[in-house]
Amino acid sequence: MRTAVLVSGRGSNLQVFLDAWTQGTLAIEIVAVGSDQENAQALERARQAGVSVRAFPLGAYPNRRAQERELLGWLKDLGIELLLLAGYMRVLSGEFVREAGFPILNIHPSLLPAFPGTQAQRQALEYGVKVSGCTVHFVDEGLDSGPIILQEAVLVRSEDTEESLAARILEVEHRLYLEAVRLLLAGKLKRSGRIVTVI
Ligand code: GRF
Repeated sequence: MRTAVLVSGRGSNLQVFLDAWTQGTLAIEIVAVGSDQENAQALERARQAGVSVRAFPLGAYPNRRAQERELLGWLKDLGIELLLLAGYMRVLSGEFVREAGFPILNIHPSLLPAFPGTQAQRQALEYGVKVSGCTVHFVDEGLDSGPIILQEAVLVRSEDTEESLAARILEVEHRLYLEAVRLLLAGKLKRSGRIVTVI
């Protein structure tokens, strides 16, 4: 399946997919990696794997709509069949999601609907939850609000810092995101409104 990944930062989730692809353990071809950040470390990871990269910095466009249109045109020209958001720090518009016509997945470091947005681990600690985790979901136009595919819990420890909790969640993210994409590729995800069932 012709796959693109959108990133904004470090790219550890991207790396998991690059490795699975190059090792032939996942039936995707990573055709391109796009970013809103020209200097994202993730872009370097993609280049090293021989994947073509392109940055779409918001500042280079009159508005967000124009940025999205160019991004979507690029993905369509590449014949993308699956889009993975991996630390892409922008909410895609409803227009983008509707016009895409291919599934879009995202990974988020909390048990949604708790703590959407960019500070999930810090908010979990500040709220005092004893269990957090991560969520793989289909993307809709909302902030981390699309239909949930898989979730896994991670226990919060009393001595946790934002960094230690994020690190433990990240380990699970890497496994869970791969598993969700495997299920999708195998045709094992049945979607009915917001309810996703693994069949
Ligand atoms: C991950 O925690 C992911 O859940 C969140 O942003 C972080 C990205 O990490 N959306 P990386 O860039 O994949 O290393």
